[in-house]
Amino acid sequence: MMWLPAPWIWGILLLGTGSLCQEVIDQCDPSPCQNGGRCKSLVGSYRCHCLTQSHDGILHGGVNCDVRLVGCEGHECGTHGSCSPFLLDGTHGYTCSCTAGYTGPLCQTPTTFSFERRGYLLHQSPQVDADVSWNITLSFMTVLPRALLFQRNNGGLLLSLKLQGGRLRLTLRREAPAGADVESSSSQVLELPHNVTDGEWHSVEAVLEKWMLSLKRLDAGSCGSQSCHRVASVQSNLAREVVPPQNTFIGGVLQESNGPDEHYPVPAFIGCMRDVFVDSQLVVPEEWLSNSAVNVSPGCSHRDHCLDVPCQHGGQCVNLWQSYHCQCPRPYEGHDCEKEHVTARFGNEDSHSYAAFTVADDMGHNLSISLFLRTRKTSGLLLVLANSSSQYLHMWLEDGKVTVQVNNFESVKAESALDDGEVHFVSVEVAEDHMTLYVSAQKQGDVDVRTVTVHAGDTVHVGGLVDRRTTAGFGGYFKGCIQDLRMNDNRLQFFGLDTSVRTYPLKLIGNVTAGCSGDNICSRNPCLHGGMCYSVWDDFTCNCPPSTAGRRCEEVRWCELSPCPTGSECMTLNQGYECYANATFLNNSTVLSYRGNGLISRNLTNISLNLRTRKHNAAILHAEKASAFITLSVQDGFLSIELQSFSLDDSVAERTQAVSTVSLSSRRRVSDGEWHSVQLFMAAPWMHTSQWTLVLDEEIEEASTSRSRGGNIDFLRDGVDIFLGGLDPDAGWSLAGCLGTVELGGIALPYFSSSDVNLPRLQEEQFIRTSPRPPLLGCSGASVCEPNPCLNGGDCRDHFNTYNCSCADGWTSRHCDVFANVCASSPCVHGNCSVSGVSYKCTCEFGYTGVDCEREVDRCENHLCAHGGTCLHGPDRYACLCPENYTGTFCNERIEEIPWYIAVRKV
Ligand SMILES: *[C@@H]1O[C@H](CO)[C@@H](O)[C@H](O)[C@H]1NC(C)=O
Ligand SMILES: *[C@@H]1O[C@H](CO)[C@@H](O)[C@H](O)[C@H]1NC(C)=O
Ligand SMILES: *[C@@H]1O[C@H](CO)[C@@H](O)[C@H](O)[C@H]1NC(C)=O
Ligand SMILES: *[C@@H]1O[C@H](CO)[C@@H](O)[C@H](O)[C@H]1NC(C)=O
Ligand SMILES: *[C@@H]1O[C@H](CO)[C@@H](O)[C@H](O)[C@H]1NC(C)=O
Ligand SMILES: *[C@@H]1O[C@H](CO)[C@@H](O)[C@H](O)[C@H]1NC(C)=O
Ligand SMILES: *[C@@H]1O[C@H](CO)[C@@H](O)[C@H](O)[C@H]1NC(C)=O
Ligand SMILES: *[C@@H]1O[C@H](CO)[C@@H](O)[C@H](O)[C@H]1NC(C)=O
Repeated sequence: MMWLPAPWIWGILLLGTGSLCQEVIDQCDPSPCQNGGRCKSLVGSYRCHCLTQSHDGILHGGVNCDVRLVGCEGHECGTHGSCSPFLLDGTHGYTCSCTAGYTGPLCQTPTTFSFERRGYLLHQSPQVDADVSWNITLSFMTVLPRALLFQRNNGGLLLSLKLQGGRLRLTLRREAPAGADVESSSSQVLELPHNVTDGEWHSVEAVLEKWMLSLKRLDAGSCGSQSCHRVASVQSNLAREVVPPQNTFIGGVLQESNGPDEHYPVPAFIGCMRDVFVDSQLVVPEEWLSNSAVNVSPGCSHRDHCLDVPCQHGGQCVNLWQSYHCQCPRPYEGHDCEKEHVTARFGNEDSHSYAAFTVADDMGHNLSISLFLRTRKTSGLLLVLANSSSQYLHMWLEDGKVTVQVNNFESVKAESALDDGEVHFVSVEVAEDHMTLYVSAQKQGDVDVRTVTVHAGDTVHVGGLVDRRTTAGFGGYFKGCIQDLRMNDNRLQFFGLDTSVRTYPLKLIGNVTAGCSGDNICSRNPCLHGGMCYSVWDDFTCNCPPSTAGRRCEEVRWCELSPCPTGSECMTLNQGYECYANATFLNNSTVLSYRGNGLISRNLTNISLNLRTRKHNAAILHAEKASAFITLSVQDGFLSIELQSFSLDDSVAERTQAVSTVSLSSRRRVSDGEWHSVQLFMAAPWMHTSQWTLVLDEEIEEASTSRSRGGNIDFLRDGVDIFLGGLDPDAGWSLAGCLGTVELGGIALPYFSSSDVNLPRLQEEQFIRTSPRPPLLGCSGASVCEPNPCLNGGDCRDHFNTYNCSCADGWTSRHCDVFANVCASSPCVHGNCSVSGVSYKCTCEFGYTGVDCEREVDRCENHLCAHGGTCLHGPDRYACLCPENYTGTFCNERIEEIPWYIAVRKV
């Protein structure tokens, strides 16, 4: 690079040759220096400063920089040095300037070394005069933010350079003599503000000279300003003469050299150093295994062990230069987070489990309890802290939520339930007088509390107490799993991980097992109806067979299994199913009889049925027990109910059992051969007695209500024969007609016996048919339409033992055998009627058409208006409305002269 002098330098030089110093002769004008050399004028002489660098690598020397320097030809500075040639007394030679980390005349000696665990170098300075003049420079590379770089100890005066929080910190202190007041020790500190623990090389110089303390970073480039240099004059109480010898520890100290009042001993340096100078003397350990070099090795071999990803289970790796450290997430522990705390299973197969630990040290007022929790139970005692006189902290599950109470008073309950069988991390923090509860790091609530103090010797109960009753007061014994339980940083291990992890001593343990396998609920097969049981942790699911549903396959969709005989309808009940059908009762049919199965417990307060008959007098349903009876019948064509029952009469103050009678009839006849629905019910079924209501054919809204009040028909529940289709087998009055399935209080009187249906009936409350002969199913009277009684193409309609003929046109009478005069009804609207065979014929008036001459003839149909002319309906003809430029009757004449002529003419 060319050296160009700054203009102001020339300015001073010009001034020098000016009028002030006339006698000075400038020896540099003109400059005798060649090859870019800089001339310096001396009295009567000059000196050339030759360039030390040049573009082409050719340097010059000699008095006038005119001799080419050849000393570096064939130099031996090697790869770690650069050669500088010189010319001295006419002889060419060279020197080697070494790159950082190397020394020696030919830069072949490395000065770099690395420190391993608790390594150090001890440098003993030769005994010199007592004048304190210390100078230590060194370069270092590390990633650890806290370490000792060097320490020089001399007769009570201690100079040390440390890394603290990644920063350089130089401390000068005078140790108090042994036994003296600690106060008499004093110190002075210089600190540089930068973080230098970034794994790069940094150089630093620490000097104590003439009672001035100085700390300076020597890093080129990054460190030019004052921020890299601190100077202070030493406090007078430190500035006292010291005596040799001077020992300098580099990187660490011998353990016993650590001063007695070193409260926070700084760990030894781990990393690399190079170019370490103590009082300008380069420190290169000759003997790497000598006493003065412990755990120090030549070179700087560093590998970031974290690149190997040594920490398992998501542990955070910290590079420790020669090694690494894993910060393990819970519940993992160990050097590489390879160990997992053993989960403790409580309440396996519903046993009662508990454990207890002894607190080993006082905890002060701040307490933290944390654990992993897994359960499906909504309640259970988790943890109790107790001293000899009382239990002062309880932690339990309530509604699936963690609840903590201290001093049997202040408590906090979690917001979210965790009884879902998943693992949850729960922690409670008691700090001074405030308690906070967290689940999975989410705050659940907090409360102000009175101080909680945990002392050594207190007991931690987990999962329950030995005493069953106290445990029951907090939801009983816990069932589930607990893992990695900690109080502050102390582990409470149910099953030892290994000796490296310290735990509070286990006092007692009962029915707690290692691991977290759930109960084998499927071994008891909770699934019904052949469902397949699958275990999930502490729970099960059922894979239900077709037509079943519910958590345990307890719901059967019976009707999907087609249990009913053909011709009947299946109805699913809450429990089981029933087959509904219509039955035909003939004059000579046996009366059906029924009895309750003895398990009917509901109150019978209504009857419903569908009926079809032509008989004017017939019994439908009848039963009697002592003086109570019920009769449903058709009397003179009307539906009639007679009910006499016992009941506790609400209206009578002394509530005696009374006999009440209810009579009701329909307002319309039912003996018309049509289907009628009948609903009969107590108006107030919750009462002992009430009016009864009869609703005939719901859609017609015909209802009649009894005047008197009657009790319910519970006497039909058991021990009484209920007859259907007649009073009793011999009393006559038998029904001729059809009945749908009758229901008493919603329970059917089934037409099918248990041998008629394909699956057992499971409903508890049943009426059983006691008469042996099955009824005639379906609803069929005599086959009145077969053969067809309607003549001349008439349609026969079956009206249950009677029929109607719907006759073809022209025919009339019951059997369509009378021919009617088809023209009597004047079917022709605008024409004359004439009989034609069995039908008629219309002769239309002019202008009308259609079979009955009901339609006017459309005159515009097939009109002849040309060129888009519009057809207009006239009274007896039509006319054409012509478009522009056309005229004529049918718009077929073109208008040439009169453009806007429109013609409307009669055709
Ligand atoms: C210092 O810097 C390094 C590298 O940037 C960083 O990893 C480390 O955390 C820093 N240390 C401190 C104490 O700031
Ligand atoms: C300290 O020593 C180094 C290395 O010998 C030297 O370069 C430096 O100039 C010295 N500093 C002082 C202030 O004496
Ligand atoms: C284990 O649980 C069973 C069942 O609850 C109980 O009877 C037994 O006493 C318990 N064992 C211990 C050591 O507590
Ligand atoms: C206790 O916790 C409080 C709040 O977190 C804190 O300010 C205090 O320093 C802690 N005390 C101790 C002894 O750790
Ligand atoms: C009984 O007859 C009625 C009227 O015809 C009909 O709607 C109903 O489906 C029949 N019931 C059964 C079970 O066949
Ligand atoms: C009842 O009468 C019908 C027709 O009148 C007849 O077909 C049937 O066999 C009779 N049944 C009995 C049991 O007498
Ligand atoms: C049945 O009726 C009686 C009164 O007769 C009443 O006290 C009772 O509560 C009723 N039971 C039900 C289930 O409705
Ligand atoms: C009618 O005739 C006139 C004259 O020839 C012509 O200009 C006009 O476009 C015609 N109009 C139509 C609708 O054709």
